Amino acid sequence: MKILLLGARGQIGRSIQALSNTSYWPNDWQLYSWSREISDLSQPDVLIERIQELKPELIWNTAAYTQVDRAEEESALAYLINAQAVSEIAKHCAKANIPFVHYSTDYVYSGSGETPHLETEEPSPINEYGRSKLAGDLAIQQSGCEYLIFRTSWVFSEYGKNFVKTMYRLSKERPEISVVSDQVGSPSYAADIALYSLIAIKKALFQDAFPSGIYHLCNSDFVSWYDFARGILPNFPVKAIASRDFPTTAKRPANSRLSLKKISEVFDIVPRSWKAALLDCEKKLL
Ligand SMILES: NC(=O)c1ccc[n+]([C@@H]2O[C@H](COP(=O)([O-])OP(=O)(O)OC[C@H]3O[C@@H](n4cnc5c(N)ncnc54)[C@H](OP(=O)(O)O)[C@@H]3O)[C@@H](O)[C@H]2O)c1
Repeated sequence: MKILLLGARGQIGRSIQALSNTSYWPNDWQLYSWSREISDLSQPDVLIERIQELKPELIWNTAAYTQVDRAEEESALAYLINAQAVSEIAKHCAKANIPFVHYSTDYVYSGSGETPHLETEEPSPINEYGRSKLAGDLAIQQSGCEYLIFRTSWVFSEYGKNFVKTMYRLSKERPEISVVSDQVGSPSYAADIALYSLIAIKKALFQDAFPSGIYHLCNSDFVSWYDFARGILPNFPVKAIASRDFPTTAKRPANSRLSLKKISEVFDIVPRSWKAALLDCEKKLL
């Protein structure tokens, strides 16, 4: 089976490539990993032509405009990549009758309340990044293709830029780090997201009716950014501050808790705690 991975240089993209060299990866799956140079989502027409030439049998998209603050000023580009290009890929998948696997975000929710969000909840994003990602989700749902949208949160890994690596860096540069304690969610290790996605895809392909839908997918156990920072740097001074004392260009939801009930019921996937995942990530980083 020909699998096309988009976003090959991102955190989840690189984790999927690493996974393709393990025994979890089916022997008869060939992975084609495309990074921005050969698949620029800001040029959807060129991208679709290339996809038509390759004729993949499943498209797994991890590419996205992920710069949350910059999206407030570059919303047109964020929409082009996160919504328009995604819409074109989904339409191609519908026409070619192949499944589309895609990632969404906790930032589609407003973040009100203190209970975990369910996939049935009406999204109401409070920033441009969230709005552009939601537009992508809706376009996939309307395209008529078979799809799995994994809505994840707070991704960290040994790759690229992320909170874990930032905490390590700041601990070398500063005597103390201040971190917001009033935003709560689930950190997600990219390697786990890749593996759980693969397990779900394999199960979906074997079902008589493809279980198209949105599925929350993150590591388990809710935590604030402050407590996550303390988990990363247990012996370093970390100070809790309120979001209002750490102004950012884009607003962030206070409640990013995602319920994992649906993915456990449909695919029998019960993600491990972010704490166990962090230990594995740290082994790769140190
Ligand atoms: N990171 C998070 O905390 C988080 C949270 C919730 C949901 N998600 C979602 O999870 C998915 C994967 O996230 P991630 O953490 O792996 O993101 P990431 O590390 O930022 O990777 C995103 C990738 O998209 C690529 N990209 C950006 N613009 C592109 C374009 N115009 N054409 C082609 N590729 C382009 C980037 O390429 P370059 O390497 O060339 O820049 C990068 O490799 C995304 O859908 C994201 O919205 C992420």
